Amino acid sequence: MSTNEVDSLITENNMPRHIAIIMDGNGRWAQKRLMPRAFGHQAGVKTVRRVVEYCANQDIEVLTLFAFSSENWRRPKEEVSLLMSLFMATLQREIDKLNRNNIRLRFIGDRQGFSEKLQKKMSEGEIQTQNNTALTLVIAANYGGRWDMTQACQSVAEKVSTGQLQPNQITETLINQHLSLADLPEPDLFIRTGGEQRVSNFMLWQLAYTEMYFTSTLWPDFDQSSLDDAIKSFKNRQRRFGHTGEQVLTKSVTL
Ligand code: IPE
Ligand code: IPE
Ligand code: MG
Repeated sequence: MSTNEVDSLITENNMPRHIAIIMDGNGRWAQKRLMPRAFGHQAGVKTVRRVVEYCANQDIEVLTLFAFSSENWRRPKEEVSLLMSLFMATLQREIDKLNRNNIRLRFIGDRQGFSEKLQKKMSEGEIQTQNNTALTLVIAANYGGRWDMTQACQSVAEKVSTGQLQPNQITETLINQHLSLADLPEPDLFIRTGGEQRVSNFMLWQLAYTEMYFTSTLWPDFDQSSLDDAIKSFKNRQRRFGHTGEQVLTKSVTL
């Protein structure tokens, strides 16, 4: 990585360009109130709205939200079906609003797992907002980091088998180009709410040099000041990408 590349990963005011969030804790939030888990998921949608608005106003370039993992199908079928309905209803209600706010919507994950109707809504949302230039909002739905790497391997293998590509042309850059977020900057700041300190098969490849931030705040309670705290923590860190601290401070690194 060259000095310029390192510089480009950090914006002027040291704000993260890309924030990726595991929105966890909806179920426990509801249970604490002796309410069904569905109540927590509904409250979680309100937090999504709040966080999207905040990021758009703060000039964050990309916000990725983990909405449903490839493993979440293992939940009771009533909960899965509630989550699907909520997903659909939220898209129906919010897409126009996102568009008016110049927000570009994108989905990553295996959409074939969803109903035709939902898949259609997802692509409509993407098409409708594709030319927007403020925040890019990426929703990870039926997404898994392992799935992402597997589908990238399949595309690369396909090209090798048809002779378009030689095995020795498979580089990190080439693999990256086949991953879901190829055209977007890697996440600078990872946030997981809900107290668990694990990655749960989120963006395994892209998190290689992401700053990690864990908070016990449950997702429905995550507000502007919680996000401010996470960004403040990010700003106080020195990212080294393998260099020494001195090299980074004096900007003497050229690799
Ligand atoms: C995150 O909240 C939302 C999804 C995974 C869809 P959870 O539903 O995992 O909430 P907890 O972890 O059970 O509290
Ligand atoms: C991760 O949360 C997935 C999403 C937030 C969508 P989980 O609640 O599913 O993660 P685990 O099962 O506790 O690791
Ligand atoms: Mg959870």
